[in-house]
Amino acid sequence: MKKFAILNGPNLNRLGRREPHIYGTATLKDLEKLVRAEAKRLGVAVTFFQSNHEGALIDKIHELADGGIAGFIVNFAAYSHTSIALHDALKSVALPAIEVHISDIKQREKFRQTSMTAGACTGMISGEGFPGYVRALRQLAEKNPT
Ligand code: DQA
Repeated sequence: MKKFAILNGPNLNRLGRREPHIYGTATLKDLEKLVRAEAKRLGVAVTFFQSNHEGALIDKIHELADGGIAGFIVNFAAYSHTSIALHDALKSVALPAIEVHISDIKQREKFRQTSMTAGACTGMISGEGFPGYVRALRQLAEKNPT
């Protein structure tokens, strides 16, 4: 069974309590449940990782790639706008990756409108809330069948 990883970056552990007018009231655990249900329907496996640390996200990308992961769904949160290192980490493993943002970064502050990491991804979904992760998983599973 193909396995995909869902990586979430800084402050996303606070979903549900964090700026609910932007990110909603559902938690990271709720997100995992939603994505796991879709994974079951698609017949793929998923693994989740959240960290507030750039280096921990980089180490996890390398570790999962070396372990045979088939692709990534990434929401690097604020690091999306700043991190050449995360961009390079994705490039270094050369696997399909879809960047997801819960909010629509193009409609927010100027400093959020550019993604540094999207250039290392095969696609980007922004502004669709949690369903954006579900759609990303469908895209990964369909484009990368077993
Ligand atoms: C976010 C958007 C980022 O600008 C922000 O820093 C986040 C969350 C989103 O999912 O909408 O932490 O990635």
